[in-house]
Amino acid sequence: MLLYIALGLLALAVFAYYQWTARFPVGPRPLPFIGNLLQINLKSMYKDLDRLGKRYHGMYTVFTPMPFVQITDFDLLKETFVDQGEDFAGRPEQEALQELLGFGPNAGVINSTGENWREQRRAAISIMRDFGMGKGLMEAQVRSSIADYIAHIESIENKERTSLRWPIQVMVANVINEIIFAYRYKYESCKPLMDYVHGFEKMIEEMMKHPGFLLAMFFPKLLELPLLGELAAGKVIRAQQKLNAYVIENVDAVLAKYNVEDEPTCFVHAYKQRMEQGGNAFLDGQRGERVWEMKRRQPVFRTQIAGMETTTTTLRWAILFLAKHQDKQDRLRKEILDVVGKDRLPEMADQTKMPYARACVLEVQRRANILQTNLLRVTLRDVHVRGQTIPKGTWVNGDIHYLMANDPIFEDPDAFRPERYLQEDGITLNKDLVDHTVPFSIGKRACAGEGIARVELFLGLTATFQHFRISSCEGEEIDLERPQSTILVPKEQHIRIEKLL
Ligand code: HEM
Repeated sequence: MLLYIALGLLALAVFAYYQWTARFPVGPRPLPFIGNLLQINLKSMYKDLDRLGKRYHGMYTVFTPMPFVQITDFDLLKETFVDQGEDFAGRPEQEALQELLGFGPNAGVINSTGENWREQRRAAISIMRDFGMGKGLMEAQVRSSIADYIAHIESIENKERTSLRWPIQVMVANVINEIIFAYRYKYESCKPLMDYVHGFEKMIEEMMKHPGFLLAMFFPKLLELPLLGELAAGKVIRAQQKLNAYVIENVDAVLAKYNVEDEPTCFVHAYKQRMEQGGNAFLDGQRGERVWEMKRRQPVFRTQIAGMETTTTTLRWAILFLAKHQDKQDRLRKEILDVVGKDRLPEMADQTKMPYARACVLEVQRRANILQTNLLRVTLRDVHVRGQTIPKGTWVNGDIHYLMANDPIFEDPDAFRPERYLQEDGITLNKDLVDHTVPFSIGKRACAGEGIARVELFLGLTATFQHFRISSCEGEEIDLERPQSTILVPKEQHIRIEKLL
């Protein structure tokens, strides 16, 4: 009898589950409670989403086990993220996980939602502007960091077999570090940076190894159970805590030099000053030590990682693509030498006369396609999209990865071909193609650091190939395979560098 009751309850639960899943746009059939977790390899999720995107045109749902709506059509992405931007401006709010993974719930720019996010984003962008974002000052900082980077590469003794992985990392880290903490790493003593980056890689690796972590998003109470909680997320959380410790150390060191009367010299000081001056509820330090603790650190951690890993990875791919395609490297260098010459570093003002270099940056970003999925958005109300409903609180992936790899506007999308962005005259950029290239996403929550990233990518790429010819090592080939990771970094490998200037 008990067995029949149990089976009856189970059947009811399964029925209710499928009633519930039917509320979302149609996708591959989920299994009760674990959804599509068996059909998706988290380590290479983009490959499964690639496959599914071709089957379910424009929009579909996978259950991970949270319902996760995928948008894979460019016009639909604009309709949702831009035209209905307010409705798609949320981020996941699983408080327990936010607390554990960051410094607290609804903190910082990247992870927050609602009025809090609006205030944080406005404050962060306005502080960045004070430090020169979008103006000459920021460009001057990037150029100065690039000058150090070029000097460092010149000093490498064995250029026949070397790697630019760490030089690029330090160059990019120094731009963002100077803004946030007002200090730079030295190339010869950058171990703390290396540990931090390895720590970040470790945290991502643990996250991908433990699908229990995703289950915990669906069943947050799991984390409170002693053994299961540990199994689901213990390693991820500890890896994250190590990262947090490094940020706390940096923030505290900078704050030790803070004086409210002084002109702020870095993001941390400016942020602290705004909090002390009060004036808005979300930067208000008076609401107790805990609020201050989480608000002062979260923006720093996320911005630093967001800014560093994405830009570094893109430039690492740029080196490999152009090392593999010598003819394109030669064409790029010719343009650089014609416009900039040999006696100074490139500037952003040169861009208008360097269509091929711009095309190279676009093609590197499109082809490198470094994010497996876009950052998660969450619908803030029930939304109606082309006759279908996405319920309030649903996770949404505006699948920029899929689009840059599969949008039919990109002919032969796997080929690395910067020329595709130039019209027949070889000078004018193809506006349609440029618009469809969306590495920074679009809409209200598009990348807040796009301006800085564009400067770093254009100047980093052109300065490198102005000074050096880069190719594969004797008897080896450049390997463009992608190891499994959340940020799709290239394989570590050696290259050959020849100094030209
Ligand atoms: C090549 C480099 C970069 C790429 C490809 C990139 C890409 C992205 C993407 C796809 C998003 C999510 C947008 C969305 O939800 O629709 C994002 C958000 C964000 N990025 Fe970037 N990013 C880069 C560099 C940077 C840099 C240099 C910074 C900071 C200096 C930065 C700061 C941020 C912040 C704060 C957000 C969150 C915006 C919000 O939620 O309102 N990013 N980025």
